Amino acid sequence: MKEFIFRLYTKILYGEGVAKRLGMECKQLNASKVFFVTDSFMVEHSAAFPMLIDSIKDAGLKVKVFSDVEADPSISTIDGVAAIMKEFGADIAVALGGGSPMDTAKLACMLQNNEGSVRDYMRKVRSVDKPAVPVICIPTTAGTGSEVTSFGVVTDREAGEKIGIAHDSMMPKLAIIDPALQVSMPPTLTAATGMDALCHAIEAFVSLDAEPLSDAMCLHAIRLIGENIRKAVANGRDVETRGKMALASLAAGVGFAQAGLGAVHGIAHCLGAMYHVPHGVANALMLPYVMEFNVMANMEKFREIAIALGENVLDMPLRDAAYRSVAAVKLIVKDLGIPQTLKEVGVKESDFPAIIKNTMTYGRLPFNPRTVSEKDVADILTAAMG
Ligand SMILES: [Fe+2]
Repeated sequence: MKEFIFRLYTKILYGEGVAKRLGMECKQLNASKVFFVTDSFMVEHSAAFPMLIDSIKDAGLKVKVFSDVEADPSISTIDGVAAIMKEFGADIAVALGGGSPMDTAKLACMLQNNEGSVRDYMRKVRSVDKPAVPVICIPTTAGTGSEVTSFGVVTDREAGEKIGIAHDSMMPKLAIIDPALQVSMPPTLTAATGMDALCHAIEAFVSLDAEPLSDAMCLHAIRLIGENIRKAVANGRDVETRGKMALASLAAGVGFAQAGLGAVHGIAHCLGAMYHVPHGVANALMLPYVMEFNVMANMEKFREIAIALGENVLDMPLRDAAYRSVAAVKLIVKDLGIPQTLKEVGVKESDFPAIIKNTMTYGRLPFNPRTVSEKDVADILTAAMG
């Protein structure tokens, strides 16, 4: 019997229209000064932003906004946000947006109570000694799962690396999942973020660190995504479908927060840092190739993935049934119009040594179901070139 620890920290508030309760929720957490982190798109184009700020003010709380988070936040952005938050003296942070604002807020909350630059924690020069300031996450995409994980990812642009920093206290105190905030997400973003969630669910489900509760979360997420991702991309205004994708992202987030990820994310982080390929696109592109490599490590679980994705594998030999999971994922990537080869996103073979070197240092690589060597990464990359 496998021994495991399953952590439950985050209160989850789910439903259409629940985001307007933000102010009261901050108050219940004894907050008085709210630091609000988002990006310029949300400020300029979303009705949610003014509604949420009003909700905080109506609850009688002070609020300061930072709205310049870029995609794949850098060390200097996070250090800068942390400095503004410290000066304001925030006792809570709220993040509105996708993974970048959420990770930025979580890391700024950690730096509020811990000395130095976020670089020190990336490079393990310092460790998180004091608990982070509480954070509330309000995702407007369905993919990252950051609303229920203890991780924040930082990009070191000079080194071409993306590295995650984790601490239990960075786990959000509250996740507000309001599908009404996700209906304006454009199809390309819906496709990429949805594939990120599918990648989390599949990588965590087959991870060597998986356990029964994370399996339940991941398998449910895979089923929900298989049934809804095409519909969500085709018609983003369908709130019911948005709600199911939001739930899938959250369940996959809970699953991978417990069981970890694997080689897909290891390679995808390099593609993001070196070529600025959006995180979800990099994962979607690499997922079938890494699955193909991994299938033989756990054919029973890959068969379960095929079934969850709606494949009829009845009466098939186990090996054939397991490989149907790869075919099913390839079809989703094709239907959603996501690049299917590394060539399409501008990757050059001359960069393989750097991608391989960075992938081999990925902290979650040891949990990949099949042991990965440098040559294996090279073979996977060659296959993915097309
Ligand atoms: Fe991811």
